[in-house]
Amino acid sequence: MADRLKGKIAIVVGAGSSKGGLSIGMATALVFAREGAKVFAIDVGLDHLAETKQRIEAIGGEVALHECDIADGGAVEAMVKACVARWGRVDVLFNNVGIQAVGGPLELSEENFDRLMRVNVKGMFYTCRAVLPHMIAQGGGAIVNNASVGALRYSYPAVGYMASKGAVLSLTTGVGLQHAAQGIRCNAVVPGYITSERMTARFKQELGDNWMDEVRKREKNVPSGKLGEPWDIAHAVLFLASDEARYVNGTKLVVDGGLSMTTTGRA
Ligand SMILES: NC(=O)c1ccc[n+]([C@@H]2O[C@H](COP(=O)([O-])OP(=O)(O)OC[C@H]3O[C@@H](n4cnc5c(N)ncnc54)[C@H](O)[C@@H]3O)[C@@H](O)[C@H]2O)c1
Repeated sequence: MADRLKGKIAIVVGAGSSKGGLSIGMATALVFAREGAKVFAIDVGLDHLAETKQRIEAIGGEVALHECDIADGGAVEAMVKACVARWGRVDVLFNNVGIQAVGGPLELSEENFDRLMRVNVKGMFYTCRAVLPHMIAQGGGAIVNNASVGALRYSYPAVGYMASKGAVLSLTTGVGLQHAAQGIRCNAVVPGYITSERMTARFKQELGDNWMDEVRKREKNVPSGKLGEPWDIAHAVLFLASDEARYVNGTKLVVDGGLSMTTTGRA
C-alpha cells in the first residue's frame, strides 16, 4: 500500500496533539504523508505540531507547518493562501479540529456553548469557504470532516459537543451536495471511542490512578469490546480523501467498533 495520495496537496487542520502523543490529526497527517501527499499541517500552536513534523520527516515525508486558529476567519483565509503560495493547489482538506466541554443545558455555560459552536462548526465553515474557490478552479477536491458518534447517540452529558457534531454532519451534506457537480466531494468520518492522548489525559485528570476504570467501562459498551486507535480513523479518512472514494460523497463513515448500533448510554 503506497502512493494512494501521490502528488496531492493536503491541508490537515488540527494535525498536532493538544496533550502530546498520538492524536487523530497526527495519525492522519502521517498516513497522508506515507501515501505520497505533501501535508500542510495546521494547529493553534506550532509547539503542538513538533511531533507531527518529526514523525513525518522520519518516514521521508514532506510537511510544512502553519499556525492558525480556525475560529478566526481571516487567519483561515491567510492559511489557505499560504498553502497555495507554497504548493500551488489544495487537493484535500481534513477538518479534524474539535474541542470538548462536558455538561447539559443546566451545567454548560453559554460562553462554552458558543465556543464549541465557534471552533467545531464555524471553523469548518471558514476552512471550506477558503478552500472551495481553489478546488472549483482546479476542477475538484476532497473534504473530510471529523464528527463523532456523539452526533448519533448519547454516551455522556455533553449537549454542546453533541449539537456541534450534529451540525458537522449537516454541513457535510450541504457542501457535498452543492459542489458535487464541480468534482468536489465532502464526506464525514464519525469516530467512536478513540484512545487519543487527549482522551486518556482526560481520564487521568478525572480519575487519577483509577483511569483505566473508565477505559474498561467504555470497552464494555462497545460490541467489539475494544476502544479504537487514532490509526483506525486515519485509515478511514485516507480512503475518503483518495481517488478510491471518487464515487463517495456526503457519506458519514462510522468507525466505532459497532458502538452506534447499541443503545447503552449513561447520564
Ligand atoms: N478521541 C476520541 O475519542 C474522539 C471521538 C470522537 C470524535 N473525536 C474528534 O476527533 C478530533 C480530534 O480529536 P483528538 O482526540 O485527536 O484531539 P486532540 O485535541 O489531540 O487534537 C485536536 C488538535 O486540534 C488542535 N486545535 C484545537 N483548537 C484549535 C483551533 N481553534 N485551531 C486550530 N487547531 C486547534 C489541537 O491543538 C490539537 O492538536 C476532534 O474533532 C474530536 O471531536 C475524537
